[in-house]
Amino acid sequence: MQSLKEQINLQRLPHHIAIIMDGNGRWAQEKGQDRLYGHFHGVESVRNIVEGCAELGVGYLTLYAFSTENWDRPEYEVSGLMELLVDTIRKETETLNKNNIKLHVIGDMNMLPAYAQKELNESLEITSRNTGLNLVMALSYSSRWELVQAVKHIAGDVKAGKIDPDTISQDTLQKYLTTSNFPDPELMIRTSGEYRISNFLLYQLAYAELYFTNVRWPDFRKENLYEAIIDFQSRERRFGKTGDQLQQEALSQ
Ligand code: IPE
Ligand code: IPE
Ligand code: MG
Repeated sequence: MQSLKEQINLQRLPHHIAIIMDGNGRWAQEKGQDRLYGHFHGVESVRNIVEGCAELGVGYLTLYAFSTENWDRPEYEVSGLMELLVDTIRKETETLNKNNIKLHVIGDMNMLPAYAQKELNESLEITSRNTGLNLVMALSYSSRWELVQAVKHIAGDVKAGKIDPDTISQDTLQKYLTTSNFPDPELMIRTSGEYRISNFLLYQLAYAELYFTNVRWPDFRKENLYEAIIDFQSRERRFGKTGDQLQQEALSQ
């Protein structure tokens, strides 16, 4: 009997996996614990999944860790999450570096407390020359925020005479997004049984395969990731064409 990992076709890995890490609060509450207890255990899943992606050779992993809307949560939860973030970055940077993982951050960094920005900037610098897995943390991120930022920058550049509005294309817009250096995610996973996108990478997920699981984030492990990848590999990605066209293209290659 083949293990789940052995069932993965390494030639057809998604280049970019994006994950909405949901369900920490419910996981904790089901155990009669405080929500922060769930976030704390969620870090173990992050470690495990980052390791899993690095072992497989996935190019990009984007983790939605904190949304623009999450600032509206109770103050104690927000500050607890910020402390957890800083603590985790401090502890894990060395491991990231050892494993040749390059950290990136997307989102409104200016919203983060100064001590968190400092810690993140250090980690970004330390891992900046690594060439393995690109780990993208979405922090104080929302897609609508990102699109508004992009429009503002484009408008500014039009005003400054740097861009001719007639030449604006999908490529132009792509260059002004926070994800300009990354390929679009091919697989988007959301844990904990919620079937929504919650303002995450709305533009970039245009052709992503979506995978939803009831597993709460603190319980999500490599085996769950493998299941999602195997499911991804069983799907036919048509990009608007017909199944027959794709078969003919495959035959002519
Ligand atoms: C995801 O878990 C983590 C963050 C949004 C920071 P939640 O905290 O949303 O957990 P639930 O959805 O309330 O269970
Ligand atoms: C999305 O989860 C944001 C993150 C996982 C960071 P939420 O729990 O905030 O999303 P909603 O409120 O259920 O849509
Ligand atoms: Mg949630």
